[in-house]
Amino acid sequence: MKILILGGAGFIGSRTARRLSEHGHDVTVADSFDPQIHGEDLAKSPTLQTILGRIGVVAVDVRDAARLSRALDGVDTILHFAAGTGTGQSMYQIHHYADVNVGGTARVAEEIIRRKGQFRRVVVSSSRAVYGEGAALCAEHGRVFPDMRDTAAMEGGQFETVCPHCAKPVSFAASLETDANQPTSIYGITKLAQEQLLLNAARAAGVPAVALRYQNVFGPGQSLKNPYTGILSIFSQLIRDGREVNLFEDGLATRDFVFIDDVVHYNVEATVQELAGTHVLNVGTGVRQTLVDVVTTLAAVTGRPPKYRISGQFRLGDIRHAAASTDRVARTLGAHPFVSFADGVRQFVEWTEGLASESQSESRYRNSLDEMKSLGLLRGGASVPS
Ligand code: UD1
Repeated sequence: MKILILGGAGFIGSRTARRLSEHGHDVTVADSFDPQIHGEDLAKSPTLQTILGRIGVVAVDVRDAARLSRALDGVDTILHFAAGTGTGQSMYQIHHYADVNVGGTARVAEEIIRRKGQFRRVVVSSSRAVYGEGAALCAEHGRVFPDMRDTAAMEGGQFETVCPHCAKPVSFAASLETDANQPTSIYGITKLAQEQLLLNAARAAGVPAVALRYQNVFGPGQSLKNPYTGILSIFSQLIRDGREVNLFEDGLATRDFVFIDDVVHYNVEATVQELAGTHVLNVGTGVRQTLVDVVTTLAAVTGRPPKYRISGQFRLGDIRHAAASTDRVARTLGAHPFVSFADGVRQFVEWTEGLASESQSESRYRNSLDEMKSLGLLRGGASVPS
């Protein structure tokens, strides 16, 4: 196969590119090399360095129709991973997120239609953010889809979702691909648009296509520079430097952390398996960790004390609980044994320790929180820890 990976120099794309290339495919990576992710000096981008010299790399911003079109000449398979990924940041860089995630994807969709017959597969990275708060179980109303949480209730320390019919407490239910899509953040809205734009165009062009709804992906290669991306990266560096971690809400929000190699496994299967039609598949483990679990696991693995403060602060657009149902992806692409959270954290920490100089700067992280706070998008609690 002749594969083009858009956004292929990043965390998920670069590892997927290497794996597909090891499988003997002709892979090219196209990327805009966003400095927020790669840093100002590309020679120091850990993910780009893993592919340079082994895989063809071209500079393409997906919003640039002419460059995108040139990069697609001779390609038969598109993996579209180019996107802004920060939930908090998306709430004020609204035009930028819409421009890159939606506008850029619209360019790719136009090429799929224009080059009818050229492509054998399109794979797009979507997100569990499309579900918003996701599913829950109400004792009276069964499986329900809680509304976005009320800001005033959160200011008062009430962080749990409630039944949309009776406002009573609910228990968690894993998200199914057939569930309602009700994103609570600009980021989630753009991921839903990405997924729908590409699946719709692929269907019209008769190209089999797969949208993968990733849960919280982590592991070696995750950007350590980006203060908006990924708590494993942010928290591991705070713990390593003996600084306090600011746990939002009451520290009991949960996420389904899926290890990079497991995501790469499904990216490859979605690319190479014989499939017809269009598919939407969750990629997650189905297991949840609280924010406190994340800090204590990181501390245990690094042998440092788990210093954290439950701040009561919260980000507008954040969701409370998340875990994927894994049934459909297992039925469609085959079952897969997932790396446990503790093993994944060990591999992640080993990697960060070999990269001591790549540290996230304290000021960059603080600035990101101050920025959200000044815009009213980080609320509650007392103050950002000093
Ligand atoms: C993440 C990904 C997103 C992906 C989604 C899928 C990032 C930035 N975003 O979003 O691309 O589509 O998973 O589920 O990786 N928190 C703190 N303290 C902090 C920062 C965050 O307590 O200093 C909390 C947040 O409130 C949230 C949790 O940590 O409850 C996770 O936040 P984050 O790593 O930013 O990821 P998501 O928003 O879940």
